[in-house]
Amino acid sequence: MTLTIKMLDLLQVLSILSFLVLLKSNAQLMLEVPSLMKCKFDKIYQLGDSLSDTGNFIRESFLGAFSPFAKLPYGQNFPQNKSTGRCSDGLLMIDFIAMECGLPLLNPYKDQNANFRHGANFAVAGATALPAEILIDKKINSNPLVTNSSLSVQLDWMSSHFNSTCFLDCSKDLKKALFLVGEIGGNEFNYGLLQGKTMEELTAMVPEVVQIIINAVETVIGFGAVRIVIPGNFPIGCMPNLLTMFSTNNSTAYDEYHCLKDLNNLAIFYNHHLQKAIQELEKAYYPNITLIYGDYYNAYQWLLQNATSLGFDKNSLQKACCGIGGEYNYDKSRICGAPGVPICGNPATYISWDGVHLTQAAYKWLTIWLIDDMLPTLNCQL
Ligand SMILES: *[C@@H]1O[C@H](CO)[C@@H](O)[C@H](O)[C@H]1NC(C)=O
Ligand SMILES: *[C@@H]1O[C@H](CO)[C@@H](O)[C@H](O)[C@H]1NC(C)=O
Ligand SMILES: *[C@@H]1O[C@H](CO)[C@@H](O)[C@H](O)[C@H]1NC(C)=O
Ligand SMILES: *[C@@H]1O[C@H](CO)[C@@H](O)[C@H](O)[C@H]1NC(C)=O
Ligand SMILES: *[C@@H]1O[C@H](CO)[C@@H](O)[C@H](O)[C@H]1NC(C)=O
Ligand SMILES: *[C@@H]1O[C@H](CO)[C@@H](O)[C@H](O)[C@H]1NC(C)=O
Ligand SMILES: *[C@@H]1O[C@H](CO)[C@@H](O)[C@H](O)[C@H]1NC(C)=O
Repeated sequence: MTLTIKMLDLLQVLSILSFLVLLKSNAQLMLEVPSLMKCKFDKIYQLGDSLSDTGNFIRESFLGAFSPFAKLPYGQNFPQNKSTGRCSDGLLMIDFIAMECGLPLLNPYKDQNANFRHGANFAVAGATALPAEILIDKKINSNPLVTNSSLSVQLDWMSSHFNSTCFLDCSKDLKKALFLVGEIGGNEFNYGLLQGKTMEELTAMVPEVVQIIINAVETVIGFGAVRIVIPGNFPIGCMPNLLTMFSTNNSTAYDEYHCLKDLNNLAIFYNHHLQKAIQELEKAYYPNITLIYGDYYNAYQWLLQNATSLGFDKNSLQKACCGIGGEYNYDKSRICGAPGVPICGNPATYISWDGVHLTQAAYKWLTIWLIDDMLPTLNCQL
């Protein structure tokens, strides 16, 4: 999977960029002409995990409330220097997407007092696609279990949300809504890897995870969704936590960006299955429903390829900004937020925030690439 960004794409990216203006704090990047404005989305609904949780995990349990995500330095570059439960120094991809749609940032469903007029976010940090019971049976879950709010739980929340917010025909209300089903499903592989599952065991799990995501897509279609983005997984072999855990002296285990090939191949395999399944579903519902694969993998490859010209420090591409120790600035016993763990001077020059999640700067660039990649399929001229 090699990525070649054509000159035309490059120019588009740069023209999007030229609209970037800085407002108030340097954290709040807004576009003068949001690139998704012409899609006329009036609501956004998000299912997922820590890549898109805007505050559910810290509200759903004590475990969340006392997690590092609930306090600084998480959120240190968020407007007003505030931790919100986002697993980053600032904004996430879903925030940039909302801004590009010209909509307010998505409120977390668990915030009882929030306004959901423009949609809701059901994503929970640590969530898996497969139900917690199934993963516990397979001995693939976070230890301790941080959340039970897997995809089916999030879909139940969505169902009761729609039941209580639209009284007659929900599907009419959702004609102009954007749905994001994922990224979700990455955590079962993370947990499996951390618990010593073999690559064969994890590969064997791929069809089951993909199927549960596809079922979820059909459920949201049942609710009335017509435009749905289904993101795949990142090249997980580039993440500082996994690079630390699977560090090896065997240089052939690494690719040109010093990412672990085996782990990236697992992500490629998974993404391939997901894409195939999306294509089949797309055919079944053609032409009523638009399904779009969110190519996180190639977005990340593009980021690595162009890191220096995008302002990232070429010596820190695999290092956590907030962390300490080892080649990757990551030590699982001294994670970001723990006492005495330092934060890099300029998070905008790092891709990884805490060894597991990315910085606002990385999320911003990934979103710019993704929107450019998805726009032609979104059919927004209508
Ligand atoms: C954010 O707040 C923390 C704690 O109040 C403070 O130490 C830090 O310097 C602040 N950062 C910014 C960018 O204002
Ligand atoms: C998950 O569900 C089980 C069974 O209902 C419960 O005992 C456990 O406390 C839950 N865990 C979390 C993190 O909510
Ligand atoms: C929402 O309403 C439908 C139809 O009445 C019902 O089948 C479903 O169980 C409700 N969802 C929730 C979560 O209560
Ligand atoms: C790599 O080799 C060095 C020196 O031979 C050794 O100290 C180190 O433990 C090895 N690291 C791994 C991950 O095998
Ligand atoms: C080094 O890694 C490559 C790729 O993962 C693998 O095929 C090879 O067997 C490894 N060599 C040794 C000596 O472990
Ligand atoms: C598409 O929508 C039309 C009108 O609602 C409906 O008649 C048709 O069965 C739908 N097609 C599919 C493949 O779902
Ligand atoms: C990204 O990298 C590719 C390959 O090196 C290059 O062709 C392209 O011009 C770069 N794009 C930007 C925006 O720097």
